[in-house]
Amino acid sequence: MNLDGKVAIVTGGAVRLGRALSLALAEQGARVAIHYGSSAGPAEAAVGEIKTRGSDAIAIQADLSRPGEARSIVERAVDHFGQVDILVNSAAIFEPGNWHDTTEANWDRHFAINLKSPFFLSQAFAAQVGRERAGHIVNIADWRGARPGPDHMAYTLTKAAVIAMTRSLALALAPNIQVNAIAPGLILPPPGQDQAYLESKASQVPAQRVGSPQEIANAMIFLLRSDFVTGDLIFVTGGEHL
Ligand SMILES: NC(=O)c1ccc[n+]([C@@H]2O[C@H](COP(=O)([O-])OP(=O)(O)OC[C@H]3O[C@@H](n4cnc5c(N)ncnc54)[C@H](OP(=O)(O)O)[C@@H]3O)[C@@H](O)[C@H]2O)c1
Repeated sequence: MNLDGKVAIVTGGAVRLGRALSLALAEQGARVAIHYGSSAGPAEAAVGEIKTRGSDAIAIQADLSRPGEARSIVERAVDHFGQVDILVNSAAIFEPGNWHDTTEANWDRHFAINLKSPFFLSQAFAAQVGRERAGHIVNIADWRGARPGPDHMAYTLTKAAVIAMTRSLALALAPNIQVNAIAPGLILPPPGQDQAYLESKASQVPAQRVGSPQEIANAMIFLLRSDFVTGDLIFVTGGEHL
């Protein structure tokens, strides 16, 4: 897909990784609907930055713990841009919880935000694209979803399901909508941790370093430009998943 002038929704697109994805899309000439939950200020700042660079952007607020609100993001983006061509499901929560202390509330919150909302957003997106136009969905998963460990139980299970959903939707929405996923490794410190914490983990990575948001953005742009890749999962981990 030639990204120039295309319209992309990026969930959680105002901060951290999502912000890098929003700006990378704008860099390629795409117009961007930056979804946010609570980061109103950063969302407006990202919109301003994209406009300064000569493209168009809007900020759209929605609470992804309510999948009905997720669906409305597509409608609001279409109201502004006329259509949407790309959906990047990046927003997620990453909260601790192992087999004995995962609560129902923790489980339900992860599944609503990390899986149910991306599914119903994808459903609304695909209905809007229809069967004639080209479209792309890129799901930001996690290598833990492909190699589940004993920690972050609910989070990991949602990411495993996101990988399965990617393959299922790739079949369901072919031939005109491609659906792929990216599995990042150590890119940004988790909530409550700093860069030094992240760097301390680098020795566990075959590449002996952490990754950058730009490296995730590069994988996304590769997928969006490729017309013959669907149902795929790209690991951007420096080999950590091995
Ligand atoms: N960071 C990493 O190194 C890493 C590694 C592996 C996988 N990943 C995956 O990459 C993606 C981005 O990671 P990140 O670290 O940049 O994420 P993050 O900092 O935790 O940001 C998550 C985003 O999700 C949004 N969000 C969370 N709960 C929401 C809700 N109820 N309603 C609406 N929006 C909500 C937040 O929006 P607001 O701020 O506007 O509320 C935020 O923009 C995630 O899918 C994550 O699982 C990241």
